Amino acid sequence: MNRRPDAPATARNKDAILEVLLFEFRGRKAVFEIGSGTGQHAVHFAAAMPWLAWHTSDLPQNHDAIRAWLEWSELPNVSTPIAFDVSCMPPVDTRFDAVFSANTAHIMSIDEVRKMFVLVAAMLVPSGLFCLYGPFNENGRFTSESNAVFDASLRAQKPTMGIRDRGELRQIAKTANLTEVRRYAMPANNQILVWEKGATAD
Ligand SMILES: C[S@@+](CC[C@H](N)C(=O)[O-])C[C@H]1O[C@@H](n2cnc3c(N)ncnc32)[C@H](O)[C@@H]1O
Repeated sequence: MNRRPDAPATARNKDAILEVLLFEFRGRKAVFEIGSGTGQHAVHFAAAMPWLAWHTSDLPQNHDAIRAWLEWSELPNVSTPIAFDVSCMPPVDTRFDAVFSANTAHIMSIDEVRKMFVLVAAMLVPSGLFCLYGPFNENGRFTSESNAVFDASLRAQKPTMGIRDRGELRQIAKTANLTEVRRYAMPANNQILVWEKGATAD
């Protein structure tokens, strides 16, 4: 096994995501990442934002990859992954002023997405931010043909996977006291959605 696996999509999107995070995470101190995957995002973002303490997490099967990237990077501000499965995770005691996750909402079932929002809200300090990157539908529609094809391939692999609708996420977030405050259009028909804990909707 390659000790430091390279996910081509992650390598492609990391700079565009970083540009948004440099703005959103200015003045923040501690970020918790859900579904760190290979660990490439964590290393890239923590290197570019040395003022942040970046906390990685994922299902245990991804921890070797994340550890390999962290060891290679020798960064002082990224911590080793904790086992974090939203479907069976008790609330975490530590509080963070931001949570980041990329390409997870379409992999998790919608029930797991609901649990993720409840956990995120519990982990965030008041006015804490949740930045979620990925493809999202708008008003029940795909935003591109390529997203429709991607959704069909996900559902063929596992019927509980699929691209989530931004309106549905807004409702789920609202019940967790998280309000959508910003939305960024990203390359390849992706978006970054930003929710704030305790903010009031316009
Ligand atoms: C498509 S990968 C994205 C990885 C990485 N964030 C990226 O963008 O390259 C989806 C990630 O979600 C994680 N994941 C899936 N189900 C999860 C769950 N129930 N709780 C936490 N993480 C989960 C997977 O282990 C995987 O790392």
